[in-house]
Amino acid sequence: MIEYRNLRVALLGGGSVGAQVARLLLEQREELANRVGAGLELVGIAVRDVDAERTVDLPRELFTTDAESLILGADVVIELIGGIEPARTYILQAINSGADVVTANKALLALHGPELFAAADQVGAQLNYEAAVAGAIPIVRPLRDSLAGDKVNRILGIVNGTTNFILDRMDADGDTLEEALATATALGYAEADPTADIEGYDAAQKAALLASLAFHTTVPLESVYREGITRVTPQQIESARKAGYVIKLLAICERLTDAATGQEGVSARVYPAFVSRSHPLAAVHGANNAVFVEAEAAGPLMFYGAGAGGVETASAVLGDLVSLARRHVVGGPGFAASSHADLPVLPIDRVTTRYAITLEVTDEPGVLATIAGVFSNRGVSLALVEQSMTPEVSASAGQELVPSTATLVIGTHAATEAALAATVTDLAANSVVTTVASVLRVEGA
Ligand code: NDP
Ligand code: HSE
Repeated sequence: MIEYRNLRVALLGGGSVGAQVARLLLEQREELANRVGAGLELVGIAVRDVDAERTVDLPRELFTTDAESLILGADVVIELIGGIEPARTYILQAINSGADVVTANKALLALHGPELFAAADQVGAQLNYEAAVAGAIPIVRPLRDSLAGDKVNRILGIVNGTTNFILDRMDADGDTLEEALATATALGYAEADPTADIEGYDAAQKAALLASLAFHTTVPLESVYREGITRVTPQQIESARKAGYVIKLLAICERLTDAATGQEGVSARVYPAFVSRSHPLAAVHGANNAVFVEAEAAGPLMFYGAGAGGVETASAVLGDLVSLARRHVVGGPGFAASSHADLPVLPIDRVTTRYAITLEVTDEPGVLATIAGVFSNRGVSLALVEQSMTPEVSASAGQELVPSTATLVIGTHAATEAALAATVTDLAANSVVTTVASVLRVEGA
């Protein structure tokens, strides 16, 4: 049997994920060596502060602040620093010095993926990033490899653990967004700057990566439509519950026919949406993620599991490491994603979906017919109307008479964003409507 020399593994970052990767590399040294056919020697961990307290007890001598020297002596570099710089420069240095790379950095890949993949291609290096989307869940490799012979039409996913955790806590425990975010941060789910989570940037980065893989098309981050969860109110959550829905932050990637040109295009978008409580996505709780993939031959597939967390994400990082280390040992190029289809990425106003609109209206005869007329004038048809009343408060000493109002939750059939926007403008201007309290999309069959 051929004896291969140990592969030198440099780890950049020793935080939530990095510390767990280091622990597993050290604890499972023998088992991993058997799987790879060569030893994986952790030669160092680059951090900012070698004296910082770690979540895991790791040998002090492994830590360094000299990332560049570590990279130069490595066969494999694992980047778990996060952010754009210096991560981008370090990955390019690793590739150009002949190392293969594993990263979990969706922010970097969504912005500079084409540059990094081209650099890797040029020198025949491998660049693996399973952990960049949906934490522990295998979804990058299934899209890139397993489904490479199929045609993916749609992806519907909960891909951000922090926001799913927050929405779940707001729904189940009545927590505020701030309270739930503090817990998610303490549990290691949130990004270093949690704005990336709650404003939907992290999910948009993942949507760009998923759409690029699924549609063999480079989908730039700036073409992903994005709304976060910071405007989701307890009232919206309550109104969703009453109507049999739950609010989830969804990433949606789909093939569309552009009604304007008749040509095929793709859309990638992220927003909070009503999901029926009977839909499997409604049962995704805490920091879990789930990704539905609809492929032409395979039909619907669902991938479910831990979407964030240090040790869970370390599983995906180590999977990438073992996979590329095996190729390193036996030779041959890695499996690169393709972008040959080069489909146009369509803006949000070409998208058709369903909506849930909550209105405060005056409670008087003929209001429902007036509201229905507003929708009908814009060609938007109604699927559901739920009404609840606010009783009239009678005048008493020093109090004015408050007329009774009604809250309407209206569900529509599929309509374009443009038709919906025009309808909402008309509703806001109508005298029977006191307030357009909320407009959210409805997703999932
Ligand atoms: P952390 O913030 O917990 O850790 C970052 C690490 O990088 C720290 O050890 C820090 O050093 C080190 N670091 C920061 N800047 C530098 C620098 N300039 N030079 C050297 N080291 C540096 O991040 P996570 O472990 O949570 O995330 C790492 C990556 O994994 C990110 O790309 C993230 O998006 C991704 N990811 C995270 C998941 C999670 O659940 N946490 C899940 C999926 C992906 P020091 O410790 O000294 O401060
Ligand atoms: N902050 C990210 C999340 C980590 O909450 O999903 C996993 O990518």
